[in-house]
Amino acid sequence: MLKVGVFGVGHLGKFHLNNWKEITDVELVGFYDPNDAAAQEVTEKYQLPRFLDPERLIDAVDMVDIVAPTNYHFDLCKAAIRKGRHVFVEKPLANTMEEARELVKLVRESNVKLQVGHVERFNPAYLGIQHMQLNPMFIEVHRLAQFNPRGTEVSVILDLMIHDIDIILSIVKSEVKQISASGVAVMTDTPDIANVRIEFNNGCVANLTSSRISMKRMRKMRLFQKDAYIGVDFLNKKSEVIKLKTPQDVDAFSFDLETPHGTRTIAVINPQVPEVNAIKKELEAFRDSILHNTPTKVSEVDGYRAMDVAHQILHKIKNNSITS
Ligand SMILES: NC(=O)c1ccc[n+]([C@@H]2O[C@H](COP(=O)([O-])OP(=O)(O)OC[C@H]3O[C@@H](n4cnc5c(N)ncnc54)[C@H](O)[C@@H]3O)[C@@H](O)[C@H]2O)c1
Repeated sequence: MLKVGVFGVGHLGKFHLNNWKEITDVELVGFYDPNDAAAQEVTEKYQLPRFLDPERLIDAVDMVDIVAPTNYHFDLCKAAIRKGRHVFVEKPLANTMEEARELVKLVRESNVKLQVGHVERFNPAYLGIQHMQLNPMFIEVHRLAQFNPRGTEVSVILDLMIHDIDIILSIVKSEVKQISASGVAVMTDTPDIANVRIEFNNGCVANLTSSRISMKRMRKMRLFQKDAYIGVDFLNKKSEVIKLKTPQDVDAFSFDLETPHGTRTIAVINPQVPEVNAIKKELEAFRDSILHNTPTKVSEVDGYRAMDVAHQILHKIKNNSITS
């Protein structure tokens, strides 16, 4: 049995508690949250001990689950790693690049596993296309949300776009060559809406739009590659592939198109989407990497790389607003 302690039982922390209770081979030992009202609600609802000293909770467990606001990630991660405890930490990995760099170093020097909560990697729509060879040359992303004060202590880049940055960096096997970005702070002091173009050394271009001030919600990624168009709808948990038909696509809906090079048969495929709860799946993956001593699915280096691109974007937006 792996013992887990949860740090932060706000909006997302409660989802984590619900999932940990259902996950096998794990014992939920207690939680730490400085907010008395949040803590009382959890003690009553979950019959779970509240720890008043974070160090004592770290001492009592094998792994910590950090679901506190981002500015506390670094101190909590560091305290746990120093005591040899495995760490699951919500995204973004840390508040600053210095902190993120230090965490990568601390993990490298220790025997602990660290996983970052880039939960979209476990979204059923994304899992549904994992069997494909992904080699996109053009990516178009829209992640639009309605305004919610929760999360606005950081920009829309670190709050929402970082999900797509992480997915794109995990798909495109090439280094970032250039970033262009523009963003506007409408409701808060940091960008609430932004458009970003990331160019990679292999020629791939990703165009991302993120907003937290939209009327409608949307979380769509469209990938274009030589043999296929792949659409991933993270919100509605559906994916779609449109490609030149091959013998393997025998069961797919298809139609013919007349082209200057003759008739082409196009297949339209809706990949089977697994029925999974993404948060449960990411926490189970973390448990498994500890039990089987395998790399975590979203490592501290992945968390660092996503933050690095996010911070470069913020830098570009800041410079643009100074010169405009
Ligand atoms: N992966 C995702 O899709 C996703 C979605 C939402 C939030 N998040 C991340 O989860 C984290 C929490 O977000 P939230 O929406 O649950 O926020 P929240 O404000 O609802 O809850 C945060 C909780 O942490 C508590 N807290 C404050 N300081 C603490 C400390 N030092 N130690 C322990 N707990 C502390 C607060 O009292 C509060 O109860 C943030 O890092 C956020 O970026 C990730």
